Amino acid sequence: MSKSNYTPGGLETSKFAAAKEPYYQGLEAIKGLGYTTEDYIHNFPCFTGHLTLARYLSLFNCYQKTLGIAGHIAELGVYMGACSMLFAKLTQIYEPNAVTQVHGFDWFKGARNLSSEDRDNLTEGSYLEPKERVEALIRAQKLDHILKIHDLDMASEAVGEFFRKYRHMQFKLVFFDIGIYEVVSNCLPYFWERTTPGGIIIFDQYNIDIAPGETRAVRELLPNVVVRTFQHGWIPTAYIVKE
Ligand SMILES: C[S@@+](CC[C@H](N)C(=O)[O-])C[C@H]1O[C@@H](n2cnc3c(N)ncnc32)[C@H](O)[C@@H]1O
Repeated sequence: MSKSNYTPGGLETSKFAAAKEPYYQGLEAIKGLGYTTEDYIHNFPCFTGHLTLARYLSLFNCYQKTLGIAGHIAELGVYMGACSMLFAKLTQIYEPNAVTQVHGFDWFKGARNLSSEDRDNLTEGSYLEPKERVEALIRAQKLDHILKIHDLDMASEAVGEFFRKYRHMQFKLVFFDIGIYEVVSNCLPYFWERTTPGGIIIFDQYNIDIAPGETRAVRELLPNVVVRTFQHGWIPTAYIVKE
């Protein structure tokens, strides 16, 4: 649960509002207990909240469902790389000998040039993370042969160029986490076409007040597909299995 990047809307996010204050109080108490960085890394469930854990369990859940389907994994919106690195580590554990790789797409400029629809909820300038630091983190863990970072404006023609350049590339799991109409409507046709049947597309912010543009784009482009949700976890909110 991040404190500053999103302004809660009055609907779905209000369901979690009562839990916020106790969560932040607990966070402050933890920070005062003198743990080291190594403690946080090696014992992360001691500190990570249940909603954050639920997020990664949802991603793991979808990853497991796509084992045995041919294709790579994509994350649209990498930020610090938490989910791309989760997927990369899952392929280390479950698919050490398969060709599966993880492709992370971001322009590493954070939330910028927001429309009025996005500005209601998302803070201009938030989610800013230097690409160099993400790449350093990938190299530090020797994940660079699995996780490939692409510095692209995902609302632009660069996405089409990427797919024309890599004509062979198929995906089995695609995680949309740039909840902006222009990005989702530009990218979804390309990624949908290249998702192998049986593969899954995950939407971080479908049907939630913080990012209406994502739902709008999915509604327009895939009006008749079944959109499922995760019973145990809040965000990501939805996924589609490509039949
Ligand atoms: C919500 S964050 C992603 C969070 C990440 N998936 C995670 O779980 O930690 C959204 C990301 O989208 C990126 N972004 C926003 N607009 C973009 C665009 N037009 N093209 C590429 N990336 C964009 C931002 O730089 C930011 O890193």
